[in-house]
Amino acid sequence: MPRRRLELPRPYGHQHLKLARLPVPPPGQSHVPKVILYVLSIALLADKKSPPLNSCQQKGPLCTEEKLQYISFNKARSAFLVSPGEKSATWKESEKRAKMLIKDQIQIPQKEGREDLMDPVMKQTDPVMKYGKNEKLVTIFGGSGFVGRHLVQRLAHQGYRIRVAVRRPELANYLRPLGNVGQIHPLHANIRDPCSVARAIEGTDVVINLAAILFEKGPQTFKAIHHHAACRIAQATLDAGITQLIHISALGAESTSPSLYARSKAAGEKEILHFFPEAIIFRPSLVFGPEDQVFNRFAILARLLPFLPLIGSKTRFQPVFVSDFTKAIARAIEEKTNTGIIYEIGGPEVLTLRELVEKTLSVIQRRCLILEIPFPLAKLLAVFFQLLPRPLFTLDQIHLLKQDNIVSETAIKQGKTLEGLGIKPCGMETILPSYLTRFRRTGQFEPPQNMEKKDI
Ligand SMILES: NC(=O)c1ccc[n+]([C@@H]2O[C@H](COP(=O)([O-])OP(=O)(O)OC[C@H]3O[C@@H](n4cnc5c(N)ncnc54)[C@H](OP(=O)(O)O)[C@@H]3O)[C@@H](O)[C@H]2O)c1
Repeated sequence: MPRRRLELPRPYGHQHLKLARLPVPPPGQSHVPKVILYVLSIALLADKKSPPLNSCQQKGPLCTEEKLQYISFNKARSAFLVSPGEKSATWKESEKRAKMLIKDQIQIPQKEGREDLMDPVMKQTDPVMKYGKNEKLVTIFGGSGFVGRHLVQRLAHQGYRIRVAVRRPELANYLRPLGNVGQIHPLHANIRDPCSVARAIEGTDVVINLAAILFEKGPQTFKAIHHHAACRIAQATLDAGITQLIHISALGAESTSPSLYARSKAAGEKEILHFFPEAIIFRPSLVFGPEDQVFNRFAILARLLPFLPLIGSKTRFQPVFVSDFTKAIARAIEEKTNTGIIYEIGGPEVLTLRELVEKTLSVIQRRCLILEIPFPLAKLLAVFFQLLPRPLFTLDQIHLLKQDNIVSETAIKQGKTLEGLGIKPCGMETILPSYLTRFRRTGQFEPPQNMEKKDI
């Protein structure tokens, strides 16, 4: 009350002066009421005929032939527009080439590795009918990860119904649009919990285990995830009477390895084959693709730093394109023949880590000093990095980096490789530019002609 008395009377306070907000037309528009404009426009356009419907519109949505032609045209145009390996065509040029292609009924040119970048709809005769043809239900543990989402997409296009068993299904909803309505269903499951594993595989035809970790955190230990959980999944699959189990391990999974990651993967493989001898195990080398954690990470660091620290620069890798890898998994589901074996999955090239970094730098057209860190110093750094919630690298990963990560001679001789499965792997040359160009200074555009090399 005393405060009120101190205040001056406010006869023209804010509330008294406030004007009613009226819609203000944008500059350049007259205040002629919209109704009058509408009537005028109808009168002026009355004698002009509306454009005739094309034959597809006349016949309605069931006109599949023209719809397919239209889809093919669009796909061909985008294929020409971003065809890897050759200089990308302009929009007009690609449209012209696509029109010619459709007119002449020629097959769309597919370069090595191009096939998988294209939407599978293009390859199908009837894109709408293809969905839902397959009645098999597949449960994928770890389906929300990098390999998982590509596998989900591939299997969805092949018509499988998919149950994605994840710890946080509400965060895996982005997987749903990869298939038809209701075809992909994220479900809560923690592979450390036997009950949720059993519930996730109830009534399924195929079980795929992709779940893994790269560093330990709390209860998520290598032993718990790679060994005990793998064993739990195999046991549950057997108990549920499911006939197909596919397990993903990693190259270098040896019981004698100095790395705990590799040892736990080896123990998991052993348990899987013990409980489920018909299981198929895949051991991939480095997997690359749009969301990978290797090439993308190198590219990010090259953008931020003038130098790139590298541990184990002489270690050899055989990177495999994620789409080739998922194709192999899908083939293993389709052809139930070779069960109870371990496939070693690698790409067509064997390169050292240093060569991989150099390849990344050449794709993103950046220069960076490659700084090789010796193993003793790397170990010292890892001790501190391990304390971070998401460590850049750990001691265990340094142990892993000491060993080559390539397909063994034995696997090649026995045909337990991608080639053995009848898959021709794609090279990095064709794939890397499709997702790394965003790290270039000029993005996906060609640098101006007069720009010197040092500016790039
Ligand atoms: N990417 C490579 O370069 C590479 C190389 C060699 C081998 N591999 C193998 O390939 C497989 C897939 O790799 P990736 O790169 O796709 O792995 P990723 O992206 O790390 O995905 C791992 C998945 O495992 C799930 N997971 C972890 N702990 C779980 C738990 N307790 N319960 C349920 N799910 C759990 C994660 O789900 P959350 O989101 O819930 O954590 C995630 O979806 C792995 O077995 C990996 O070892 C990959």
